[in-house]
Amino acid sequence: MQQQIKKLAQNLLVILLAYVGVVVLVFIGLFNAAAPEKYVPIPVTEYQTDLQAAVYATQDRSLQLGYEVLVNTSKVIGPLVADATKRTTGNNLECISCHLNEGTKAFGIPLNTVLDRFPQFRGRENKIGTIEDRINGCLTRSMNGKPLEVNAQEMKALVAFLGWLNKETTKDVGNELYATAMEKGLKPMEWPNRPADLSHGAQVFEQQCVLCHQKNGQGIKETGGQYLYPPLWGNDTYNNGAGMTRLLTAASFIKYNMPFGVSHENPTLTDNEAYDVAAYMNQQQRPEKAALSADFPDRLKKPMSTPYGPYSDPFSAEQHQLGPFGPIADYYKKEFGIIKTK
Ligand code: HEC
Ligand code: HEC
Repeated sequence: MQQQIKKLAQNLLVILLAYVGVVVLVFIGLFNAAAPEKYVPIPVTEYQTDLQAAVYATQDRSLQLGYEVLVNTSKVIGPLVADATKRTTGNNLECISCHLNEGTKAFGIPLNTVLDRFPQFRGRENKIGTIEDRINGCLTRSMNGKPLEVNAQEMKALVAFLGWLNKETTKDVGNELYATAMEKGLKPMEWPNRPADLSHGAQVFEQQCVLCHQKNGQGIKETGGQYLYPPLWGNDTYNNGAGMTRLLTAASFIKYNMPFGVSHENPTLTDNEAYDVAAYMNQQQRPEKAALSADFPDRLKKPMSTPYGPYSDPFSAEQHQLGPFGPIADYYKKEFGIIKTK
């Protein structure tokens, strides 16, 4: 009897072990099959915008991930993501901190028609650049982080999303909510032909910007760690190699997009105000990018208001940062036949 019970127990143990083994194998199988699809979309209970609803309605996880990288950059590939291997950006800005209205705003550096413009020649590297190169430019400068591999899941998703966005926002011809291919980048402005006035810039900042970006320029964070109002200087924002550190780029961005809510059709700042406040903002301390002198190997292609040298002209770094730009533009036209607008 004892023997029989022992035998039975042994048999049961064998069956149990076999069962556990199968369960473990099934789990491993499931896990492996799921590995390339590791991305689980951030659960959304209520869509905040029509675009968000449309991208979730596709049920395409790659498009959803691309969208999340753009609007929740800090949470998906930034300092706020739990998985440290995913941390690519070095600050807590989102792409949409500058690429306004989810990357669709006319002259708010829209991205909805950007795929039509790539590959393109890039002066900063002096070669033909792909969309991935351009995104990595913003990742390492505007986002003060590291580049993403061309084959990284997040990079592929972002590019796939930009392709979808292009179709989505151009299919209703004349949909005035979305930037057209003509409204790309920033709207050129008539910059004053004088050095920027930093004390006037400080005054404009006080009157027009502190409400949101705060007196110390550090913005306001929400409870989850994302910014409601992003910082304009300090350690958690774009570095000194970013396009936004160029006075003429920042002035156009600010004139036609700030205070938040204005459009290029109804700006509230004058050219003088935008120019001076942009200069004031960019004279503050921010992260520094290494090896900036290697940018623009063909120096003739360097935009006039690039704040760092070397330059192929006799003007000082101070003049490149604060103007006046008229004499610099005249020099390039006369010496090299080059028309400089920024
Ligand atoms: C601090 C502001 C800022 C942030 C944040 C930012 N960018 Fe940019 N981005 C710019 C500026 C400025 C330009 C150049 C605009 C110009 O000179 O016309 C630009 C240009 C681009 C372009 C080329 C646009 C065109 O029309 O040719 C792409 C693509 C782009 N950014 C992608 C991204 C992505 C993706 C992110 C997030 C990972 C990002 N950017 C974050 C400021 C920013
Ligand atoms: C009503 C609030 C508000 C005011 C006032 C305002 N901003 Fe902004 N600003 C924002 C928001 C919000 C964003 C980010 C856009 C987004 O998240 O959609 C932003 C983004 C920016 C950015 C790009 C992101 C970054 O952190 O660098 C700059 C530069 C900027 N603002 C400059 C200014 C300047 C200069 C003024 C004053 C002339 C100003 N803003 C006034 C709300 C405001």
